[in-house]
Amino acid sequence: MNNHKINIAIDGYSSCGKGTLAKELAKELGYLFIDSGAMYRAVTLALIRNDIAIDDLEAIGALLPKLEISFEYNGVLNHYQTLLNGDNIESEIRTMKVSNLVSPVSKIDAVRTFLVRQQKAIGQNKGVVMDGRDIGTVVFPDAELKIFMTAQPEIRAQRRLTELKQNGDILSTFDNVLENLKSRDLQDSTRLNSPLRQAEDAIVIDNSNLSRAEQKVLALNLAYEKIGQL
Ligand code: DC
Repeated sequence: MNNHKINIAIDGYSSCGKGTLAKELAKELGYLFIDSGAMYRAVTLALIRNDIAIDDLEAIGALLPKLEISFEYNGVLNHYQTLLNGDNIESEIRTMKVSNLVSPVSKIDAVRTFLVRQQKAIGQNKGVVMDGRDIGTVVFPDAELKIFMTAQPEIRAQRRLTELKQNGDILSTFDNVLENLKSRDLQDSTRLNSPLRQAEDAIVIDNSNLSRAEQKVLALNLAYEKIGQL
């Protein structure tokens, strides 16, 4: 294999395993993994913590420059942790409270401008796998590999519910998780600023009936093919 590095953009609907695949690809290739959704979740949590309403654009504009979002790999948990101004917020940003507010927050132009600028900077030197909604279209429009992931909503809801239960959530039900996914998919794909859509040059992976291992092999082969072309 040559030493050229590529950027890999993974976009798709909520809870269809984008993060899992992105993490595995990054590990295998020795690339940086960035969960852009976690960045939108971090801003959402900051608004909740500071009691700022999502239509208070002045307060949001004043808060954003004070937020420093970073990621730290925890080898014991084998998991990336999201930090907000140095504080580990990984569990808190996965709660339904944040999930229910994150789509409206991600519609705010100032929030997108603030985060997209940071995401583009991270990708400047290549060697990044980033997952989200607008990575192949807006953040890395020239990514060498773009994957668009999808899976049936019921399958996605069951996967997300299992994850929430593993994290100690006893209140969420299959129906409210499914409803949250559908509502976020609709909001994310119909918003005016950078809606979720498949980039023209993206390769679609529907993982409804694929195991984790199968989807990893599929995507890794695509990556090696692109790297080999450089
Ligand atoms: O990937 P996720 O479900 O953790 O993302 C949370 C929300 O953040 C999602 O509903 C839409 C928003 N988002 C976005 O607008 N653009 C991105 N690149 C990533 C996430």
